Amino acid sequence: MKFFVDTADTQEIADLAETGLLDGVTTNPSLIAKSGRDFMEVTREICGIVDGPVSAEVVALDHAGMMREAEILRKIADNVCIKVPLTVDGLKTCKKLTSDGTMVNVTLCFSANQALLAAKAGATFISPFVGRHDDNGFDGMALINDIRLIYDNYAFATEILVASVRHPIHVLESAKIGADVATMPPSVIRSLFKHVLTDKGIEGFLADWAKTGQSI
Ligand code: E4P
Repeated sequence: MKFFVDTADTQEIADLAETGLLDGVTTNPSLIAKSGRDFMEVTREICGIVDGPVSAEVVALDHAGMMREAEILRKIADNVCIKVPLTVDGLKTCKKLTSDGTMVNVTLCFSANQALLAAKAGATFISPFVGRHDDNGFDGMALINDIRLIYDNYAFATEILVASVRHPIHVLESAKIGADVATMPPSVIRSLFKHVLTDKGIEGFLADWAKTGQSI
């Protein structure tokens, strides 16, 4: 499963990229606002830190406007992935862009039928938002299960990018279902490394090693 980080904080992205485990980055207008930085400038910088796809989201709501914004965004770098909302105009834009060989991430997906439409529109990635789904009394992971089943039924190449991930169990369940990608806040990626017994084990080994008086 690929790991994307869901942030526009370039320091965090650079730190996580050093692990060698980071496969891409997703941003959205809220994350850009949180960074306090210029959209084009921060996206260019992120594209230089990671080799994998970097999602940059359009803000126009009509097809012509989305195409105009996508033209600007895709010139930033070869690894830019245009993010469009799951609307009629968003999917029209997705179809056009992917036919031209541009990567597209269809975002704000909340139903399996929406995911089916995105796959038919040739989306590179579909982003079902599991956390926001859970928040509203639905079952986010059941949605991922349904999409996996449907995509496998028809051998769709669209990758399932689990978004709005809130905790490590979302990551675990996504991996068990066979989702292709999880995009996570930096804190969730860091939490995956942690286990209390790992820390305790290191502490015990180091204490015993000190007793030997040896060094390597
Ligand atoms: C994905 O691409 C989105 O940017 C993101 O996962 C949204 O997460 P949130 O629901 O925590 O804002």
